[in-house]
Order: sequence, then structure tokens, then C-alpha cells
Amino acid sequence: MDTRKKIRPFTFKVDFQNGKISNPDTHIVRKLSSMKGQYSDEKSFNEMLDKKDCILYEVYEKLVPEIEGELLQGMSIVHPGKVGKEYFMTKGHFHSILDTAELYYCVKGHGYMVMENPEGDWSVEELIPNIVLYVPGRWAHRSININNTEDLVTIFTYPANAGHDYASIETKGFRKLVVDNNGTPEIIDNPGWK
Ligand code: F6R
Ligand code: MN
Repeated sequence: MDTRKKIRPFTFKVDFQNGKISNPDTHIVRKLSSMKGQYSDEKSFNEMLDKKDCILYEVYEKLVPEIEGELLQGMSIVHPGKVGKEYFMTKGHFHSILDTAELYYCVKGHGYMVMENPEGDWSVEELIPNIVLYVPGRWAHRSININNTEDLVTIFTYPANAGHDYASIETKGFRKLVVDNNGTPEIIDNPGWK
């Protein structure tokens, strides 16, 4: 059956200040334990996890049929914090259909989007309120919150059939890390990159 017939035009409301959207269909909560192996400072990671499995980030989505031509959208909230010198960040992923892009609009906070493509190119773009970031197809992306106290809140939209390839990043990491160098964010080579 053509699921396209089931969907009708809809609106949703964005609460910038509190990092919420109205009537989300999904609410994904990612805790520290789900980021095992993703932070370079394993000692700090384990010490933190022993104390508390804290929430690193949350995602709210409005679901649409996951078919070519539809667009899926939602809100991503990365909370403030660090594991060792690395900031709280999303897992990061390639889209399973590699040639699918994504648009981000930053509504609150201060962060970076770390990106790379299979061709060996990388990029780090700053996220501040009202910045729109276009992530082209083929570019893996991870958002990082560099603010000590405030959430990093972004709205995103991407092709609904894109899918997510988390395994590639889980295995080899990103080429670049963003670390806190005495209060200043610094982009460094990832010593663990494979
Ligand atoms: C969707 C997308 C964002 C992220 C979100 C959480 O393709 O890029 O909605 O899903 O920022 O990050 P991940 O999915 O890497 O855990
Ligand atoms: Mn994506």
C-alpha cells in the first residue's frame, strides 16, 4: 500500500527556550552508557559512569512515512557537560543512503558540528542561534555542546528514507575531536581514528 496516502499536511510548535516540540511521535534519550568506546578518555568515562548514567542528549521527532520524497524533522538537545576534556556530543552517523543531505537550524546554545566524508575530507562548523547548517550527502555528522551551562538545541530535517549508519563511526570514530583546552574549544586529530 502507498503509505503516502495516509499523511496529511501538519504543523508543530517549537519551544526554543525549553527545547521541546509539540506532540512529538518519538523521544529518544541517550545516556552515557550508550556512548561506550566513543570518548577517547576511557578512564574518565568509566569513573563518570560508575557515579551516574547521566543523560547526554535527547531527540524529539515527528514521524512521516520513511519513503523517498518525504522529509523527517525534529529537535535535538545536547546537554552541557564533559567526559574528560571532550564535550557531551551525539553518537554521530552517516546516512545509510549515503547521498542524502540534512539541514540543521540552531535555536539555542553554542556548539560545533563535526563532519567528514568517506573521501577523506573533514569540516567543523560552529553552531550558534539562527545559524543554518547544510550537511551535504556523504558527510557523517556529530553535534557537540561547548557551552558549560546551556543546552545546544537544533532543529533538523532530512529525507525520511535516509536511514542511519551508526556502526561505521562506532568502529572508527571521527577524524577530529573537539576538546576543552583550558576553557577554549580546540579541534585536534583523533588519536584513536582507524
Ligand atoms: C538525523 C540526525 C539528527 C540526529 C540527532 C542525534 O539524521 O542527524 O536528528 O539523529 O542529532 O544524533 P545521533 O543520531 O547521531 O545519535
Ligand atoms: Mn543525520
